[in-house]
Amino acid sequence: MKRRIGWSFLALSVAVSCSGSPGVDVEESTRLNPAAPSTDVDAITPTATATVPPTSEPSDLVESSNPVDPASADLAGVGDSLYPTLGNGGYDVDHYSLAIDVDVDANVLDAAVTIEAVAVDELDVFHLDLQGLEVQEVTVDGVEASANRTGHELVVTPDRPIADAAPFTVVVHYRGMPEPIDDPAVPFDTIGWHQRETTVYVVSEPSGAMSWFPNNNHPADKATFDFEITTDSELTVVANGVLEGIKEVGGGQSTTTWRMDDPMTTYLAAVYIGDFELQESFTADGLRIRNYFPPAFADDLDDDFELTADVIDFFETLLGADYPFDEYGSIVLPFGIGFALENQTISVHGLDSTDPYTIAHEIMHQWAGNSITLGDWQDIWLNEGFATYLAYLYFEDRGLPSDIAPIGMYAALRGGSIGPAEVPVDELFSPSVYFRGGMALHALRVEVGDEIFRKILVAYYARFAGSAITTGEFLAVVDEVAGPDAVAVLDDWLYGPDLPAFPE
Ligand code: TRP
Ligand code: ZN
Repeated sequence: MKRRIGWSFLALSVAVSCSGSPGVDVEESTRLNPAAPSTDVDAITPTATATVPPTSEPSDLVESSNPVDPASADLAGVGDSLYPTLGNGGYDVDHYSLAIDVDVDANVLDAAVTIEAVAVDELDVFHLDLQGLEVQEVTVDGVEASANRTGHELVVTPDRPIADAAPFTVVVHYRGMPEPIDDPAVPFDTIGWHQRETTVYVVSEPSGAMSWFPNNNHPADKATFDFEITTDSELTVVANGVLEGIKEVGGGQSTTTWRMDDPMTTYLAAVYIGDFELQESFTADGLRIRNYFPPAFADDLDDDFELTADVIDFFETLLGADYPFDEYGSIVLPFGIGFALENQTISVHGLDSTDPYTIAHEIMHQWAGNSITLGDWQDIWLNEGFATYLAYLYFEDRGLPSDIAPIGMYAALRGGSIGPAEVPVDELFSPSVYFRGGMALHALRVEVGDEIFRKILVAYYARFAGSAITTGEFLAVVDEVAGPDAVAVLDDWLYGPDLPAFPE
């Protein structure tokens, strides 16, 4: 059997057929990039691609000429290799409190966001990232501050300077209709806050968080969150973490509170508002799984997502570490969006992206990407290569057919690929990152054997859970556990100009 897969961002559609890999169901090994729109004929319902108009503002994400005064350029970015203007220097955020009134029909927000941060320098001025929307007032430690906008930089000048190492609290009041963002890494859609029909949904990786709240928009600055979302009482509101409560506030409106107690990066923060049915279950260890499905599809989806608990059990064993957060769940939108995204504790799936492989892939991201996060977007393969390959290991271990297998990944790379640890920004979610990144781990496993491979994974996770790292820190663990030959194999796969031979 051949299944067609589509990569809209490469403007091509490939069919891969494979044969002859022991222990792998090669016939099923061809559903490739979970990030890309799929032409999977098994989709529950035919869907159109998202029709959110692109942002009217020009993207200033990767421009070499910084829109900000060069004197303050180090405040307008954390020095990311691919996104020089994302995130901000001078402080670390500890906590975001998002209090947002949402008019779903009009798609208008009325918001007060409180940011608790600590200065890492003396600050006369500091930046937040916010694209679009209308800022009404900014206070710093209760005193009104002056605020200027330039591109996606919200430049705040507090009434008096903030001392080095001092904690401070910023409150930003703003309103308006969020404009989804055009990010060069995601040519297949806009990212950020979207409203479609009667549903609000957020998909933010990499830069979309700044379309709906002001923040320090880089994965290296993780913070805890709480969400107080006020909207029509008839609608269900879902966000990251644990549901704290739902309170009627009059006028047919309710405030739903969610709390994310473990540090989270801004691109994983998400809110969903619409008509969703809750389905709850537990893993063998008692971890709560709460899935939110569109009522019309809930029965089928309940079957699709039944493997969730078993996948979590498998990954806990593989990495020798508990699932990193308090709860897990998946939310499925009532329409197709061609992909899924691993929001912390609440992965979102388009109605067309609920195949078992994608479900396992998003679950793996809770460890690889969400608990261990990127110190730099250039290291994206640490997210996608791990999620791709370790999700495959679940199917291999359980003897189940998988949409992804090494031979299929390798075949998909034959057209040419650059090293996944060196991709340019417009290839952040390319086959090189997913499949050559995944193949790098497969080649490592073939080189060192299953036992040492597992030791590497366990040591890597134990050392870096909860922190932001770069590729060098992973390679150092490999060196410690398996020695320089193993590092050399990875070097070839991660940085080599040519595609290495298939490892056997
Ligand atoms: N991280 C997602 C995955 O592989 C892919 C992805 C990246 C994505 N950016 C996105 C999905 C934006 C939706 C929207 O699981
Ligand atoms: Zn992924």
